[in-house]
Amino acid sequence: MRQRTDGTGLATRAIHAGERPDPTTRAHNTPIYATATFAFDTAAEKEDAVDRALEWDPRSFFYSRTGNPTNRALEEKIASLEGAEDCVVAASGMASVSATLFAHLGAGDHLIVGDEVFAITRVLWEEDLPRRGIGVTPVDMTDLAALEAAFTPRTRVVFLESSTNPRLRMADLAEVSELAHRRGALVVVDNTFLGPALLRPLEHGADLVVHAATKYLSGHGDAVSGVVSGPKALIDPVRKQTDTFGQAASPFSSFLVLRGVRTLPLRSAKGSENALALAEFLESDPRVEWVRYPGLPSHPDHAYAARVLGGRFGAMLTFKTAGGVEGMQAFTDHLALCDIGVSLGDVFTLVYPRPKDGAIIRLSVGCEDVDDLLADFRLGLSFVG
Ligand SMILES: Cc1ncc(COP(=O)(O)O)c(C=O)c1O
Repeated sequence: MRQRTDGTGLATRAIHAGERPDPTTRAHNTPIYATATFAFDTAAEKEDAVDRALEWDPRSFFYSRTGNPTNRALEEKIASLEGAEDCVVAASGMASVSATLFAHLGAGDHLIVGDEVFAITRVLWEEDLPRRGIGVTPVDMTDLAALEAAFTPRTRVVFLESSTNPRLRMADLAEVSELAHRRGALVVVDNTFLGPALLRPLEHGADLVVHAATKYLSGHGDAVSGVVSGPKALIDPVRKQTDTFGQAASPFSSFLVLRGVRTLPLRSAKGSENALALAEFLESDPRVEWVRYPGLPSHPDHAYAARVLGGRFGAMLTFKTAGGVEGMQAFTDHLALCDIGVSLGDVFTLVYPRPKDGAIIRLSVGCEDVDDLLADFRLGLSFVG
């Protein structure tokens, strides 16, 4: 029997980890195990499989809400990339965020949350958590004194985005984690905007890392999915919550995300390269009022980003054209290559105008040739002011 390895480098693990030829058919690609249930030869075998699955052995399959081999392959691949003991996949990024918070917070507990987070995560902490007796304090995570002041004796979790939506602020994860641990709280990082090829929050002291796998992990805008990674003792309650709340991932989505993750390091490198070129171009143009990109020295967290991101600053950037909402629309509505769309993390560049949020434009920079992107942006800007 050959001794198999996943390799050691990130690109190798993105391709190999979690995946082996199918043991029954020798199919090289991980199949979509489209089955609700799993069958056993004996009652005793069934009993053993169910017992193990409900003690959260993720490789004991009896029913696909609780565990499925395609989903498990994705979990093992992501755990390898994050440097985590375990991972659990769910039906969407929001399923992962909510399962994580509900698994680790109960009535009477307190959450400190980043004051700038994804809009639906905001709904969760403004409405759903307080309705269940969980106290919440929003804080600017780049302000450590404000964070320190927000702790109460009941603070159990600190939740933040590694690069915030949409202003791309990056708090120092090591400092946040050190402070939270001193106060007995877990740190949960939503790393959706950067992805594990650029930043692995567990290496910086975080306890759990969440992704909307819908974004960079999938990379092709064809699946909705979420993942949470960390030590098994912290993942087991999230797996249980995902099971109880019926947030199981579809094996078809997991198949698509598995395929996407194999090229994550390549896409993260190309997207970062393109984003830096666009950020520099936009910042030098008088028809642009400002650009927020962690790779630019003008970004307030540039020094931290330069230290932790290894020279690649991600593919998200936000900017504002001159001329308010009119200027914003003049730019977006004349682009000939890039589409206007709400998502991010695709190989396609997506432009997301926010007329109700100061007429800013958020860009998710894709993997196109940079000269084509620059040409499109020159065209859009030629209609501004
Ligand atoms: C930072 C962040 N977290 C979580 C989510 C939620 O992911 P999903 O849309 O897969 O539920 C999103 C979605 O845009 C996001 O941007």
